[in-house]
Amino acid sequence: MIKKISIGIIVLLILIQFIPYEKNESSASEFDVSKSYNVPDNVSMILKGACNDCHTNSTIYPWYSYIEPVGLFLNRHITEGKGHLNFSEFTNRPLAWQNHKFEETIEMVEEKEMPLESYTFFGLHPEANLTDQDRKVLIDWAKDQMAMLAATYPADSLVMKRRTPPAQ
Ligand code: HEC
Repeated sequence: MIKKISIGIIVLLILIQFIPYEKNESSASEFDVSKSYNVPDNVSMILKGACNDCHTNSTIYPWYSYIEPVGLFLNRHITEGKGHLNFSEFTNRPLAWQNHKFEETIEMVEEKEMPLESYTFFGLHPEANLTDQDRKVLIDWAKDQMAMLAATYPADSLVMKRRTPPAQ
């Protein structure tokens, strides 16, 4: 019995290695955040080390991502992270959305909710263990971008519009 179950598990583990899914590896940069906003090198370094794997269209895949189900677990974070915020397609969204995402970035980094905790488990991605100074650099940058938007565009273009509910 135990032998059968073990064989079953091994077969399953082998089979899931072949589940196909698309890798997040596009180099298109037409709508990259850097196209409309100033992203200085020190900010770019922090984003690259701590955020871009889950919040751009180009993930740097570590070796263990090629082992399932680890890869599928990582892929879910990437898809979900990009669904909330994608720096590679940032300027393709309405201004109010962009403004709101800077605001959320400030909140997430201040509250230490980002980068996701699991990203640095077991000593992985050591460069993503942000120091207080790194967090301040990122927060100040996002605040500067919001101030620039506020100084450049009419206030109502920066307000997220709620969808009006359909008429009854
Ligand atoms: C390992 C993947 C991963 C990394 C690395 C990561 N994030 Fe996220 N991020 C997510 C996921 C998943 C979500 C959506 C679920 C959630 O809010 O927890 C998210 C959501 C967000 C949101 C949107 C929150 C909202 O309310 O919609 C912001 C802003 C954000 N992340 C900023 C960052 C910043 C800035 C960094 C780098 C300092 C970062 N993230 C690093 C996976 C990641």
